Amino acid sequence: MPKKEVKRESWGSSMGFMLAAIGSAVGLGNMWGFPYKLGMNGGFAFLILYLLLAVFAGYVLIMTELSLGRKTHSSIILAYREVSKKYTIVGWFGALAPFFILGFYSYLGGYCLKYTIANLGDLFGASWGVNGVSGPEYFARLSADQTQSAIYTAIFLVLTIIVVARGLSEGIEKFNKVAMPALFVMLLVIIIRSVTLPGASAGLSFLFKPNFEVFKGTGWITVLAAAGGQVFFSLSLGMGILVTYGSYMKKDQNIEKSSLVIPFADTVIALMAGLAIMPAVFASGQSPQGGAGLLYMTLQTVFNGMGKLGPIFGVLFYGLVVIAAITSSMSVLEAIIGSFIDYGLKKGYGNQRKKLAWGFGLVCLCMGLLVAYDGLGKYLPPMFGKFSWLDGFDLLAEGVLMPIGAFITTIIFGWIHPDMLPEEVHIGSEFKSEKFYRFCLKWVAPVFTFFILIGQLNTFFG
Ligand code: PFF
Repeated sequence: MPKKEVKRESWGSSMGFMLAAIGSAVGLGNMWGFPYKLGMNGGFAFLILYLLLAVFAGYVLIMTELSLGRKTHSSIILAYREVSKKYTIVGWFGALAPFFILGFYSYLGGYCLKYTIANLGDLFGASWGVNGVSGPEYFARLSADQTQSAIYTAIFLVLTIIVVARGLSEGIEKFNKVAMPALFVMLLVIIIRSVTLPGASAGLSFLFKPNFEVFKGTGWITVLAAAGGQVFFSLSLGMGILVTYGSYMKKDQNIEKSSLVIPFADTVIALMAGLAIMPAVFASGQSPQGGAGLLYMTLQTVFNGMGKLGPIFGVLFYGLVVIAAITSSMSVLEAIIGSFIDYGLKKGYGNQRKKLAWGFGLVCLCMGLLVAYDGLGKYLPPMFGKFSWLDGFDLLAEGVLMPIGAFITTIIFGWIHPDMLPEEVHIGSEFKSEKFYRFCLKWVAPVFTFFILIGQLNTFFG
């Protein structure tokens, strides 16, 4: 094949980059993880801890990933290789995690799509609506229906692939520029309805009433692990996404400011999700819960009980969760293909984005189909002898690969090459928090990531 000189892609604008990074951070974690963890782990007290971790560790790790990407001008595998050949393995670590994430994320995103469509069906009184079936029953039927589960997983992933294949600025950036403001407005509308329902105040006090009792004895470890895991997953850390997104940044873009805005926006949206969800859950007389139970059972029951307005809020809510999930899943796919696009460019094959997006997207689809066919642990042999395939993939990514990769990263850039990344942050802007950054990357972030690793393993095996 003839050698072609093709330029690497970059973001069209700072705003576009910022929205894409926020789009990656804001996902299912904000919707089904944060509100419940907040309420169960001390309310306002948890929030303070969460914010401290987001500043002392999240901010610092985001800045590390973004500056590594921009400095090396490479996606994850080549970025680590550029620092030193012996670190290439760390890049591979980060590059592997996204496959597992997409494997289960596309299944969950596909369900949100299904719920959006079913609520739309209710709006038109169609036979394919939810038709008053209770949330738990609807979810049980869907997860037992392997064909439907597979179809929706596939649709969700194909939509992700289509956007990513279109290009960085033409696909991902354009999509986020429309989708993220839309998500914000949809969330606002739902909050207004939720907090004005009779009985909503019990939800507000569940979310925010400070409860320092939870820190007593060894309770603080549980709370810290919950807050730490949430910060880590919600900010999309430890899997090369922000390295990849950072590699498309221009030198005049301000890394320091971006590293602050991303966690700030992510936390605001997570709090808004809490306000949208919990007051409505309490107002309808249900108990709070988190995860799939909250999203696919409790909330559907809430919409069922809202009378004529139910399907409208159902479509709005599940629609916004689809947006949140798809803007995250496209960042995961980009992190996978980014490295291979870079290899192609280096070898003179030109930009092979389309082929790579479809090729790797289909590999992830196979993984998603395994999760769909497993029906939450019903049909396939358990992974590692005890987990559903969804939990098994989650364990490999969130429990093992991501925290180990992030821990090694803090050692490389906090201890072995402490001056390498601050130099990059200085380019194009003043680095006001340099002392804070250096201190936290050396002393706080390694402890934090190590603690996450232990906490995650404990959640799965404890
Ligand atoms: N940050 C996303 C969420 O909170 O749902 C999920 C996520 C996206 C996690 C991308 C990890 C990731 F690499």
